[in-house]
Amino acid sequence: MPQHIKRLVSAFAVVIILFLVMQQVLTPASFGKLGHYRADAIPENEMKTLHYAGSAVCTNCHEEMQTDKALGFHAQLQCEACHGPGLKHALYADKFKDKELPDSLKLHKPDQRKDCALCHEINAARIKIVFDTINNTMIHQVNTLKHNPVNKRTNEKVICIDCHNPHQP
Ligand code: HEC
Ligand code: HEC
Ligand code: HEC
Ligand code: HEC
Repeated sequence: MPQHIKRLVSAFAVVIILFLVMQQVLTPASFGKLGHYRADAIPENEMKTLHYAGSAVCTNCHEEMQTDKALGFHAQLQCEACHGPGLKHALYADKFKDKELPDSLKLHKPDQRKDCALCHEINAARIKIVFDTINNTMIHQVNTLKHNPVNKRTNEKVICIDCHNPHQP
């Protein structure tokens, strides 16, 4: 075998051996047990604290909102997309039926203009609906200042939910 090929082969051999050694050292122990991922990732994620309950749980106690929502443009939105994480609320609110909820169990009420603008304000980076053929997949954007201008004389701001029912806009 010519000298330069021998050198090339040994250089390759060194690289391959190095790779195999590094692979042994760096691969986490539980990798590949269940698939092409770390099996330990499952118990690790199970241990994380839960914050969200999911709309199905909210419906147990607030059926009216769910019924309203299912018929309107917000049908696809999760309750907690607007009201924030509500697992603690869902677990303990029942004890306070017909009483005022303690602050720790109160949920965000997104009744300010900026709350709706979060999703509906014109945003150049977001796809605009040109032909409204794909219902409920893209968000209608409005210029919140023009659509619902501030009263210039009184400087009074009408909030969106004065006209739109948030659960059935
Ligand atoms: C076990 C029953 C129960 C579940 C489940 C539940 N709630 Fe409630 N919720 C209540 C009670 C009780 C109140 C306070 C009295 C009332 O308004 O009827 C309340 C009040 C609220 C309020 C008004 C709070 C305020 O500060 O005035 C909102 C908003 C709300 N719930 C949203 C949700 C959402 C979102 C979920 C799902 C994550 C949910 N709830 C799950 C029982 C429940
Ligand atoms: C688009 C955002 C949005 C979504 C989605 C939404 N809500 Fe609301 N919700 C609001 C706003 C805004 C208010 C305050 C209404 C008001 O003050 O008149 C509110 C009020 C409430 C209240 C208090 C009603 C009262 O009379 O005080 C409850 C309970 C509630 N929502 C439950 C739910 C549940 C359950 C879901 C899911 C089925 C849900 N909401 C989905 C925006 C939303
Ligand atoms: C988490 C995002 C989100 C928030 C917050 C939100 N919306 Fe929506 N909204 C949507 C989506 C998604 C649709 C369905 C697509 C569409 O029709 O634009 C929708 C639809 C609508 C429509 C119907 C538009 C049409 O097709 O004619 C109105 C009106 C509306 N929302 C008003 C509101 C108001 C008022 C608030 C504040 C209480 C609000 N939205 C908060 C996501 C949101
Ligand atoms: C004075 C009443 C009023 C207020 C306040 C109001 N709207 Fe509207 N909105 C309407 C009416 C009426 C329509 C339907 C006619 C139209 O498209 O202009 C509408 C339509 C919409 C649409 C659908 C637009 C489309 O492209 O089809 C969205 C989204 C919307 N409003 C969001 C909002 C948001 C967000 C706010 C708060 C910043 C708000 N609205 C405040 C009356 C109002």
